[in-house]
Amino acid sequence: MDRNVRVVAVCGSLRDDSKTRTALRAALASARSAGATTELLDLREYDLPAYDPDDPESADAAALRESVERADAVLIGTPNYHGSYSGQLKNALDYCGRDEFGGTTVGLMEVAGGEFPTAPLDHLRSVCRTLNAWVLPTEVAIPSSSSTVADGEIDDERIAERVARLGEQVAAYAGVENYPELAAERRDALAEAADD
Ligand SMILES: Cc1cc2nc3c(=O)[nH]c(=O)nc-3n(C[C@H](O)[C@H](O)[C@H](O)COP(=O)(O)O)c2cc1C
Repeated sequence: MDRNVRVVAVCGSLRDDSKTRTALRAALASARSAGATTELLDLREYDLPAYDPDDPESADAAALRESVERADAVLIGTPNYHGSYSGQLKNALDYCGRDEFGGTTVGLMEVAGGEFPTAPLDHLRSVCRTLNAWVLPTEVAIPSSSSTVADGEIDDERIAERVARLGEQVAAYAGVENYPELAAERRDALAEAADD
């Protein structure tokens, strides 16, 4: 990768022993192997009261927005809570908007205790599209989290591969909204070289 790409992961679980955070770390490691600079944005470190439109600048809102806005790609990981994504994550997303997410590449991941995850990814995809993000078609749903993620590692080879692929893809497709411009520049350069 000859671009300086920044990938930020947002973890929707506040649990110390969060399996979502474990899986996000694995995806970020794979993004780093693909040449990206990475950051885990841990919502436990941000003071974000329940979003109040009358006070959108409260506490750490600006720090959260700045971190997301500077990212070329955002990896969002959430636990499955009652068939959707977590309230903590929704609250953080409500502090952000199209200024932060518009045109940004987004990769989605869900970690569920049960065997039939998917709805939280559907809900998150819809929210991210509303924010004009470029949501990657590759998404990862990790089922049966008590056995598939253990002791700070993903304990299932196929899931680990999917998580790694997601990390590679968020790095590879970071800045995707600039691709038409880059392709046009390349076409012009090739045409110029052919004329010489
Ligand atoms: C409030 C709450 C609701 C949950 N609801 C579901 C659910 O509807 N379906 C499911 O598969 N797992 C559900 N779970 C289990 C979590 O998705 C699972 O434990 C997951 O690993 C939590 O993510 P974390 O380890 O990153 O905190 C729920 C857990 C909590 C705390």
